[in-house]
Amino acid sequence: MSTISNDLILNALRNVYDPDLHKDLVTLNMLKDIKIEGKNISLVVELTTPACPLKDKIQQDCVDEIKKAIPGAGQISVTMSSKVQPSLDQRMNAILPGVKNTIAVASGKGGVGKSTVAVNLAVALAQDGAKVGLIDADIYGPSIPLMLGINDKPRIFQDTATAKMIPLENFGIKVMSIGFLIEEDAPVIWRGPMASGAIKQFMSDVHWEELDYLIFDLPPGTGDIQLTLVQTIPLTGAVLVTTPQDVSIIDVKKALRMFQRVNVPILGIVENMSYFIAPDTGKRYDIFGTGGGVKLAEDLSIPLLGAIPIHQNIREGGDHGKPIVFDKPDSEQSLKIKGIGRNMAAEISKNIFSSSLPKIEISLGDEN
Ligand SMILES: Nc1ncnc2c1ncn2[C@@H]1O[C@H](COP(=O)(O)OP(=O)(O)OP(=O)(O)O)[C@@H](O)[C@H]1O
Ligand SMILES: [Mg+2]
Repeated sequence: MSTISNDLILNALRNVYDPDLHKDLVTLNMLKDIKIEGKNISLVVELTTPACPLKDKIQQDCVDEIKKAIPGAGQISVTMSSKVQPSLDQRMNAILPGVKNTIAVASGKGGVGKSTVAVNLAVALAQDGAKVGLIDADIYGPSIPLMLGINDKPRIFQDTATAKMIPLENFGIKVMSIGFLIEEDAPVIWRGPMASGAIKQFMSDVHWEELDYLIFDLPPGTGDIQLTLVQTIPLTGAVLVTTPQDVSIIDVKKALRMFQRVNVPILGIVENMSYFIAPDTGKRYDIFGTGGGVKLAEDLSIPLLGAIPIHQNIREGGDHGKPIVFDKPDSEQSLKIKGIGRNMAAEISKNIFSSSLPKIEISLGDEN
């Protein structure tokens, strides 16, 4: 038997592809810490997100390819780790130093489940090991404090030069909401510029520290708050939430066009309240029609990140301050939401990867 070498291992792992990035792990520079002890091999694969949808497959592929290429190998141990890449440029770093990616959860119509999706996505990404923050950008109707069961007030972090608010934490995520700063049933009756000012302060005057993903739960539509957000920071992308029926689809297209106009990438569509499974009979009912989100995604060539059924547990989780992905992590609904989080993280990694590729100049020839 030939001795086991680094080169043999690397050659074997040239056959393992990251299915999202369409490149092998060696080219992607994802292999760290290769160790050979006698016949035993150990190595670390560093992915671009802890919420990689294909983590288990990549791990198994590594073991299989090493076994195939090096039949005499003993124990093969492949540890999966991750380092989220930043998508944000310098302009962003000045306002939110340490935040790598910012995601807006938006919709055209109200009440389609943005806040529910934003909260559960944030908690699901944190469960996968990411550092996550959530900004309740719905200044006039903040629902995040209730949905996360938080009713404290933020403390102040004072260093030599500045004073910043410390975000509150629950379920492994950091959170800021206007609801933490006003009395529970007091209406917010500010004019537009004040609401915009509050959103800016949630970015600049909050001690966010290091975050892999900072998620914004937006109010419905395309008003002042949305505009302030897209004008203040270069967003990594937007996730659009819709229900399957036409009225919601028509409105979500308006939100989509707003983001496209200001060059914010659309990470994908989430179809919420997609269907209902009767708990007693197991029969499926398409209460709001079927396939609206799927068709929209197809028509516009945007990824469909996933579909979430209507379920009492989702509503109760929101009302009781215990997001379903935390309270019932193994339920079908939670698994769907976790899948959406992972698909979103994969879209972000793909966008970062493709924007880091050298641009190919295409010559059209003289006659053009
Ligand atoms: N898949 C679901 N199954 C059951 N109930 C849901 C589902 N998604 C959301 N809900 C419930 O629907 C209501 C509206 O959801 P949510 O507040 O998340 O919508 P929204 O789009 O953020 O609304 P707004 O436009 O007012 O901000 C809430 O009571 C929530 O618990
Ligand atoms: Mg909301």
